Amino acid sequence: MDRHPLQNLSPIATRTSDLIGHTPLMELLTTRFGTRVLLKLEQFNPTGTAKIRMARQMLDEAEAQGLLKPGGWVIESTSGNTGMGLALLAAERGYRFTAVVDHHASKDKLRAMQAFGAELLYVNEEPGDGLATADREALAERIAAEQGAYWTEQHNNPANANGYRAVADELEQALGADITHLIGAVGTGGSLFGTAREMKQRLPSLRVIGVEPVGSIAFGGPGAPYYQSGTGTPEGAEIGELVDFCLLDEGLKVSDTQAFNTARYFARTRAVLLGGSAGGVLYQALKRAEVAPPLSTIVVLVCDGGEKYLDTVFNDEWMNERGLIDPAIDGELDALMEQLTAGVAVRA
Ligand SMILES: Cc1ncc(COP(=O)(O)O)c(C=O)c1O
Repeated sequence: MDRHPLQNLSPIATRTSDLIGHTPLMELLTTRFGTRVLLKLEQFNPTGTAKIRMARQMLDEAEAQGLLKPGGWVIESTSGNTGMGLALLAAERGYRFTAVVDHHASKDKLRAMQAFGAELLYVNEEPGDGLATADREALAERIAAEQGAYWTEQHNNPANANGYRAVADELEQALGADITHLIGAVGTGGSLFGTAREMKQRLPSLRVIGVEPVGSIAFGGPGAPYYQSGTGTPEGAEIGELVDFCLLDEGLKVSDTQAFNTARYFARTRAVLLGGSAGGVLYQALKRAEVAPPLSTIVVLVCDGGEKYLDTVFNDEWMNERGLIDPAIDGELDALMEQLTAGVAVRA
């Protein structure tokens, strides 16, 4: 057959979900000891987050197992990013999707789910900051049991972790065996441990570092409220089955103040707009870069970008009302960046 006159030289996507993956890596800095800090920028996925990888995998596996039939109904408890992925895929595949949410979620994430046709079901009626993970899950489970929706159950669904195998492949393609540290936020654990499991098979000496908010309970310590969105295990919620302590070399804590001021700092100084959880992971990655053996390569999993947090993390009023602005963190980061890169030529 003759070539179509409009035939393309490389494949062209025909569905939005074809655009998932192959996200860019960006070198944030190389230290004076040759250690690199690289950002895996997952905000370049459709819906602006890594979580659409696992949303697709959860639906693929449910369809393959016959748990989800054409025209079916999907329900999930979500802080927003998983819900956005499920909402997009439900629109593509013709499913009904109900997102069980609370007022802690960013308004933009909630509106995006609705734009894709999702129904939102709030567990707490009063707008406020309330994070209600345990209540959300209980409601999603109840509706699934009583009304026959398919609950994707992201905290305990192996498909969540499986959805990140491709991240390991992409990192291997880009860096070969030259990765010494993988650091990421831990909520369900799917993204960090799904990537790490695959990578550790190829790189057994890889150091896997998880980061959760101060007040989250997966790595111990007392439970307390926190503002970082999507990440951590709040008091009262169960630690998900995907949080794999056998794969974890270190579990670190980061405060809202450290996380958010780091995100704000790098937006201003390096034009990188990171979400709040990624700000926290980067804060810990930079501290690690200071003490890592020379020539280390530290890969930071960035779950999402700052665009979703312009009303919160990047809003001075919201930050001030909660006492979250801390110029001392800026000073600390200035000193750290200076120390890490002293004598290293800045590339044009
Ligand atoms: C912004 C953000 N950061 C971090 C995480 C944690 O990712 P995971 O659930 O894969 O541990 C999430 C999960 O929803 C998230 O939305």
